[in-house]
Amino acid sequence: QDPRLSVIRGTIREVPNFPKDGILFQDITTTLLDPVAFGHCIELLYERYRDKGVDVVAGFEARGLIFGAPLSLRLKCAFVPLRKPKKLPGETIGEAYDLEYGSDRIEMHVGHVKEGDRVLLVDDLIATGGTMVAGIKLMKKVKAEIVEAACILELPLLKGKDKLVEHDVSLYTMVEKDVL
Ligand code: PRP
Ligand code: MG
Repeated sequence: QDPRLSVIRGTIREVPNFPKDGILFQDITTTLLDPVAFGHCIELLYERYRDKGVDVVAGFEARGLIFGAPLSLRLKCAFVPLRKPKKLPGETIGEAYDLEYGSDRIEMHVGHVKEGDRVLLVDDLIATGGTMVAGIKLMKKVKAEIVEAACILELPLLKGKDKLVEHDVSLYTMVEKDVL
């Protein structure tokens, strides 16, 4: 196993009972404090996708933006933010989803991902997979090709990966934690 993975794992802070009782919050702000660990995240993604013909990195607001944007620079491709409702000024297309806690919706600008574009979906964490599936549905609506879904951290007990498989999308993650 790549030694960079344990470096990344060691920087993720666990915060009990946030934002609700019973949830062990996985906090990547402590990863961002460490440029070595943050850099490993971006470089591992770059190494995996550099030869995959990615046209667009799409990152989920908020935490997926942090990892997606630097990756798009490394890959020398476009970056498209997938935003929470009513944040984008232009015409938007959106998709609603259920979250581990609550429900929400993502939107992107119409025309920024085009038919046939090869899109890499990026987020910090996959839990239930609801967010990622909304991104997949959104990309399918505009007839984009999904290269893969990539997250720093996976909570396998929540079975998010199974939902992606149902949509014929594979998942790449760097760190897995058996917590809820
Ligand atoms: C968190 C996390 C993922 C999502 C994962 O985002 O950043 O985007 O939940 O959960 P899921 O797999 O069950 O959908 P959240 O919307 O809570 O907040 P953020 O805006 O800080 O990213
Ligand atoms: Mg998020």
